[in-house]
Amino acid sequence: MEDRVESDFLVLGSGIAGLVLALRLARLGSVSVVTKKENHESSTNYAQGGIASVMSAEDTFELHVRDTLECGAGLCHPDAVESMVREGPARILDLAEWGVDFSRERAGGGGFALGMEGGHSRRRIVHARDMTGREVEQVLLRAAESDPNIRFFDHWIAVDLLLESKITGGRGLPARRDHCWGAYALTGGHGPIVPFVARATFLATGGSGKVYLYTTNPDIATGDGIAMAYRAGARIANLEFVQFHPTCLYHPEARSFLISEAVRGEGALLRTLDGDRFMPRYDSRAELAPRDIVARAIDAEMKRRGDKHVLLDASPIGREKLLARFPTIAATCARFGFDIAAAPIPVVPAAHYMCGGVVVDLQGRTDLPGLYAAGEVTHSGVHGANRLASNSLLEALVYATRAA
Ligand code: FAD
Ligand code: SIN
Repeated sequence: MEDRVESDFLVLGSGIAGLVLALRLARLGSVSVVTKKENHESSTNYAQGGIASVMSAEDTFELHVRDTLECGAGLCHPDAVESMVREGPARILDLAEWGVDFSRERAGGGGFALGMEGGHSRRRIVHARDMTGREVEQVLLRAAESDPNIRFFDHWIAVDLLLESKITGGRGLPARRDHCWGAYALTGGHGPIVPFVARATFLATGGSGKVYLYTTNPDIATGDGIAMAYRAGARIANLEFVQFHPTCLYHPEARSFLISEAVRGEGALLRTLDGDRFMPRYDSRAELAPRDIVARAIDAEMKRRGDKHVLLDASPIGREKLLARFPTIAATCARFGFDIAAAPIPVVPAAHYMCGGVVVDLQGRTDLPGLYAAGEVTHSGVHGANRLASNSLLEALVYATRAA
C-alpha cells in the first residue's frame, strides 16, 4: 500500500455530489475519490421520488422558488434558492446526456414524465420510475469508472482533514487563515492512516441520519464530513433541522424502507387504523402538505390514539398504474407480506434528511481555503428549516457543478 496518495483533487464520497464533482474535475486534472464502502453505497442509491425542476410549460421558476421558500418556513436564503431553481433544467439535461434513463411521457422518448410530491404546486419531479437514485448512481459510476483521470479508493474512511496549521504546528488558526491540503484516511477498519494530498479537497460525505435509530438512510450516513469540517474550524449551521419523512414501512425487518411521497402524489391517502382520513383536518393540502406538516400530523394521530402506526391507502391509484410507476416499492412491500394495491399498508415517520451542515457560499466554498463541499453535507441556504421534496438531488447536482 502507498504511504501517501497525491492527486490534483480529492473527493470524499461517491453519491451524486461526489460523482458529479469527480466527473467535472477530471477534465482539469487527476482525481482521487475516497469512499467508505462499495462505491455505489450512498443515500443517492436509494432515492426514489426524483429530482425537482421546472420542465413544463405549466410551471415557472417563480413557483418553484415560492414553494421552496414556503416549505423552508422563512429560513431559506432566497438568492441561493433562486439560482438553484434557475440552473435546474440545465443540470437535468446534463444527466440525460450522461445517459440517465428518466421516465418519459410517451414510450420511445417524449418529454419527461413529471411526478408530484408534497409542498409542490405543480408537477415537476423528474424520475426514473421509483428508483431514480439507483439509475443516476449507476450511470454516473459507469462514466467515472471509465475515466482515466479518476481513481477510486473504495472501503477507505476519511477521518480528518489535512491542515496547514497541523503540518506547521501553528494550531488554533481561524479556518479562514488556515488551508486544507487533503485528508487522512484509513482502510480495513484500523489503518494505517494514509495522507491523501491534493490542491483542492471536496466534501461530499452526505448526511447524518444514522444518529437516529429509525432512519431511511443507509449505514454510511454518519455525519463524518460535518465532524471533520467542524474540527477544522469551518462554520456549521442549522443542525437542529432534521427532516422526518412521513411514510416508512412499519415492519420489524423493513429497516424503515421508504414509501415515496410520489405515491401520495399519485393519489394515496393516509388513514388511522379505523379508516379515518385525517390529513384534511391538519392542512388544506392534506396528504400533499410539506412533509414536516404531514410527519407531525401522523405523530399526533399515533399519540392521540395510542397506535404504533397509521395506514397508507394506495388503492385509489389502481393496480396497473401502481405496479408500472412504483415497481420497487410494490415488490418490497410484497416481500414483507403486503399487497400495496389491495389493502392499506402500515407506515410511520423516520429521520430522513439533514437540512443543515457545513456552510458553503454559492460556489460551494467553505470557510477553509482549499476545502469545498456539495450535497447533503452542506448548508447552502436552499433548504431553510425544512427541505422541499426532491430538492436534495437538485441541490447536489447544482452545487457539485459549481464547486468543480
Ligand atoms: P450520499 O449520496 O449519501 O453519498 C455520501 C457518500 O459519502 C457515500 O459514498 C459514503 O460512503 C461517503 N462517505 C461518508 N462518510 C465518509 C467518510 N468518512 N469517508 C469516505 N467516504 C464517506 N432526495 C431527492 O432529492 N429526491 C428523492 O427522491 C430522494 N429520495 C430519498 C430516498 C431515500 C431512501 C433517502 C435515504 C434519501 C432520499 N433523498 C432524496 C435524499 C437524497 O438522496 C440525499 O440527500 C442525496 O442523495 C445526498 O447525496 P450526497 O452525494 O450528498 O450524499
Ligand atoms: C421520496 O421519494 O419521498 C423522497 C423524496 C425526497 O427525499 O426528497
